[in-house]
Amino acid sequence: MKKIVPEPFQRLAGDVLDVYLTREEIQQRIEEMGQAISRDYDGKRPVLVGALKGVMCFMADLVREITVPVEVDFMAVSSYSTEERDRGVVRVIKDLDLPISDRHVIFVEDVIDTGLTLNYLLRSLRARSPASLEVCSLLNKTTRRLIDVPIKYVGFNMPDYFVVGYGLDHGEQYRNLPFIGILKPGILFSREKGS
Ligand code: PRP
Repeated sequence: MKKIVPEPFQRLAGDVLDVYLTREEIQQRIEEMGQAISRDYDGKRPVLVGALKGVMCFMADLVREITVPVEVDFMAVSSYSTEERDRGVVRVIKDLDLPISDRHVIFVEDVIDTGLTLNYLLRSLRARSPASLEVCSLLNKTTRRLIDVPIKYVGFNMPDYFVVGYGLDHGEQYRNLPFIGILKPGILFSREKGS
């Protein structure tokens, strides 16, 4: 069945080719992920670390499906340039506020693509001697992986579609769509050309 853009969002979603995951599909999967995390961390108080900004919706919904006590922190990273990003060089703009030494850490991402950002951040987190460190990502673009990264909790494995919504952007747009949609190829092209 074709997934339809909800009526109030049709104007905002004009650049969306197709709905990839509906709000309901996302919520249902997050419920399952929250249950798995609650089971695995029974008796513990994990620290959830999110990588801004794409993770904002996922983190907000995920924490509300976890039934053990958690603490939440965020990091923000940026690449100097596309070339540097391709080499896995990222700049930490905002570091953690909480110490994570001897803590059970779950690193939360909206999407893992090449794996370069995650690889860099995991190295940085491991250096702080957490008691354990696992990764939880809503989306996993397996075909684009350049480096092997361990992901314990995956929402959806997906092909190499450029998706927006539910926190994910293109040029800072579309983060507030309540579903995940595939962007029209023309839009992707024209924005990349800077028009
Ligand atoms: C996305 C995502 C990851 C990274 C994954 O962030 O949140 O941090 O890309 O890509 P990789 O596996 O190829 O390294 P993005 O740069 O889009 O920034 P944002 O979260 O602020 O939207």
